[in-house]
Amino acid sequence: MLTVKEAIEKRRSIRKFKPDPVPDEVITELLDAARLAPSGCNAQPWRFKIVKDKETKLKLAEAAHNQRFVAEAPVVLVCCADIKGYLDRTVSTIQDLGRIGAIEDRIVKIILDRTEKMRSMTLSELGARVAFNVAIAVEHIVLRALDFGLGTCWVKLLQEQMIKDIFGWDENLHVVALLPLGYPDESPPPRKRLSIEDILIE
Ligand SMILES: Cc1cc2nc3c(=O)[nH]c(=O)nc-3n(C[C@H](O)[C@H](O)[C@H](O)COP(=O)(O)O)c2cc1C
Repeated sequence: MLTVKEAIEKRRSIRKFKPDPVPDEVITELLDAARLAPSGCNAQPWRFKIVKDKETKLKLAEAAHNQRFVAEAPVVLVCCADIKGYLDRTVSTIQDLGRIGAIEDRIVKIILDRTEKMRSMTLSELGARVAFNVAIAVEHIVLRALDFGLGTCWVKLLQEQMIKDIFGWDENLHVVALLPLGYPDESPPPRKRLSIEDILIE
């Protein structure tokens, strides 16, 4: 098993996969890594659809502006945010934390007021807010995948409505990203990164 540092350094976006299937137990391990991610008010808004059948993968690739490698991965995880669930769980978790005195009443009130205001936002405004919680869980999967010799690639360039239409999902589910997943058939060099000096704000 890799250390976190090794996984971070070894990870590349993989866009060429071997056809070998990914065992279900491995997919379960990856979802377990997602499940353990932190989230605001522990609301855990991430939801995943596992796609293995070729026809649906082709539709997903089309919805991702014809990024063909999406259809060539043995598995594609459709990574989503459950918007209503996020709001409801935020309220119940905060109330629980307030009840046991873990969070001051004043902070509980701020969060509850904020959550109520969020209920009147448009779904696209809400989607963007909830999405960053999902992104953390997706990156857990990305890093854990390396322990199984698997490669992934974040795919955010997509037409959300096309994906929702494939599955018949309503507005409550926001598609955050696709994550094609499989055994790498390429070993790309590291991409350029900014230096530590570059990312420090003076
Ligand atoms: C939020 C996000 C969205 C991305 N969307 C796409 C995408 O739609 N298609 C793609 O081929 N790569 C996509 N990538 C992968 C990036 O191009 C890649 O991470 C970057 O070039 C650095 O390369 P590396 O991941 O190999 O280090 C995305 C990455 C992130 C984090």
